[in-house]
Amino acid sequence: MRVQSKWSAVDNMTEMGVGSLDSSTCSRVAIFVVLGLVLNLAVVCNGGQTSAFVRKIDFSADMPLDSDVFRVPLGYNAPQQVHITQGDHTGSAVIVSWITADEPGYSKVVYWSANSENQTAEGIITTYTFYNYTSGYIHHCIIGNLTFNTRYYYVVGIGETETQFWFTTPPEVGPDVPYTFGLIGDLGQTFDSNKTLTHYESNLLKGQTILYLGDLSYADDYPNHNNVRWDTWGRFVERSAAYQPWIWTAGNHEIDFAPEIGEPIPFKPYTHRYYVPYNASGSTAPFWYSIKRASAYVIVLGSYSAYGTYTPQYKWLQEELPKVNRSETPWLIVIMHCPWYNSYQSHYMEGEAMRVMFEAWFVEYKVDVVFSGHVHAYERSERISNVAYDIVNANCTPVKDQSAPVYITVGDGGNLEGLSTVMTEPQPDYSVFREASFGHGIFDIKNRTHAHFSWHRNEDGYAVEADSHWLFNRYYYPADDSKSTSA
Ligand SMILES: *[C@@H]1O[C@H](CO)[C@@H](O)[C@H](O)[C@H]1NC(C)=O
Ligand SMILES: *[C@@H]1O[C@H](CO)[C@@H](O)[C@H](O)[C@H]1NC(C)=O
Ligand SMILES: *[C@@H]1O[C@H](CO)[C@@H](O)[C@H](O)[C@H]1NC(C)=O
Ligand SMILES: *[C@@H]1O[C@H](CO)[C@@H](O)[C@H](O)[C@H]1NC(C)=O
Ligand SMILES: *[C@@H]1O[C@H](CO)[C@@H](O)[C@H](O)[C@H]1NC(C)=O
Ligand SMILES: *[C@@H]1O[C@H](CO)[C@@H](O)[C@H](O)[C@H]1NC(C)=O
Ligand SMILES: *[C@@H]1O[C@H](CO)[C@@H](O)[C@H](O)[C@H]1NC(C)=O
Ligand SMILES: [Fe+2]
Repeated sequence: MRVQSKWSAVDNMTEMGVGSLDSSTCSRVAIFVVLGLVLNLAVVCNGGQTSAFVRKIDFSADMPLDSDVFRVPLGYNAPQQVHITQGDHTGSAVIVSWITADEPGYSKVVYWSANSENQTAEGIITTYTFYNYTSGYIHHCIIGNLTFNTRYYYVVGIGETETQFWFTTPPEVGPDVPYTFGLIGDLGQTFDSNKTLTHYESNLLKGQTILYLGDLSYADDYPNHNNVRWDTWGRFVERSAAYQPWIWTAGNHEIDFAPEIGEPIPFKPYTHRYYVPYNASGSTAPFWYSIKRASAYVIVLGSYSAYGTYTPQYKWLQEELPKVNRSETPWLIVIMHCPWYNSYQSHYMEGEAMRVMFEAWFVEYKVDVVFSGHVHAYERSERISNVAYDIVNANCTPVKDQSAPVYITVGDGGNLEGLSTVMTEPQPDYSVFREASFGHGIFDIKNRTHAHFSWHRNEDGYAVEADSHWLFNRYYYPADDSKSTSA
């Protein structure tokens, strides 16, 4: 049996931040202290900060097909691309997915914890074709009725190719349960993507679940959307996604709409490969759904599914928001691919139509934070809303609003399209911090009142927070948290 262990953290950290004093309108001081760690202290001023961090802007190529991270496991029909996600509404089930290349093979998962006998669950197998590509046998198996806060081991494959992994179930849902989410978007499969994932895995804050903000493999950037790049991506992220759930959001690179080559059905590769527990939240499609996890209620929205009045997504969200019981899950998080507030030129105003439909609800129901990807950069906003405008009045500028969410864009996973470096000038008042660097985020829920967000750029040491912010919970502690930025 092949026993895999999570790739060991790279702890002999030698990378170091490179800073320069910048010359934008606000005054600030950047001091870099090398102390084994690299600490980046920035004094932030009122008009928002555009970071002057200096980095190489070169495009990064996709890792070649023979890269170590894409290696196919040894053995006939060996399970590959193993990944897990939450399997029900509360976190007591897990969907285990994997692919066998040669034949359907064994679709059972054997799993156990320290205190339980071996149990077996049977999965389903699906396949699809895309132009001249034929997928392997895609297995999805729900294992449920798991005990909370428990390490489980699981095995996929049979005989020589049995492969063992593990995961830890979340604590039971409740208001005082700390939990740490990682945030990665627009990852792709370049050398930078690999750095982002390594950086996330090595982060001392230890993310327990990834909220994935959309745009996975970027296979559609290849001729005929070469779906082989969906497989390589699945093998690349296995080292994390087989051990902790990745909560999936569909981005534009998941649409794979290509009628010119006979592929008119949107989302075909994505929906076959990445199952999500949308039924459990009364959704009728995998692009919008919700989960509870520890003290968080996470709503996933589909930027590329209809959201106008009367559409299924609209009706679902309208019924969903009143169901959120903040005394049970204080932290209301929304994730979607396309940001509503974005002061980069890339994708500027693309999120406007959905913002117009849903923003008033986010303010009414006091969403704590909205995470997005899509723009290949980082940005964090004030708590702002732009719901006053009604076409005929002149109130069309976003205003600070303590009932509104903080909007954070983390579309900087590192894909082959490169960074979005061009910003709209001047920086809007609502934009607190923006920087075009690859990296990842951590949302660290401490208790019912406090959560700490940090953004980690790839160039820095693993413990460095290039930007960070304390969020006060909008239900239990709706105090003004706009000045709670820490260095
Ligand atoms: C449980 O399953 C694992 C993996 O197949 C196997 O190695 C182990 O011997 C089994 N334990 C028992 C008690 O059957
Ligand atoms: C699919 O078609 C492309 C170009 O038309 C070709 O390069 C590739 O080898 C084909 N792949 C398969 C699996 O037939
Ligand atoms: C959990 O247990 C119940 C009762 O035994 C069963 O009906 C249900 O299918 C189980 N759920 C899962 C996901 O295994
Ligand atoms: C990807 O990152 C891992 C962990 O740092 C490293 O072992 C591996 O060699 C890297 N692969 C490539 C192709 O960069
Ligand atoms: C989700 O609901 C559909 C339609 O009701 C059903 O066919 C499907 O089996 C359900 N899936 C799960 C995982 O419960
Ligand atoms: C909300 O959750 C709390 C804490 O779990 C519970 O006591 C209360 O009954 C719930 N309210 C509703 C309306 O379900
Ligand atoms: C919640 O966490 C914050 C930050 O760690 C801490 O300052 C505060 O005292 C905690 N509140 C309670 C009630 O423990
Ligand atoms: Fe995108």
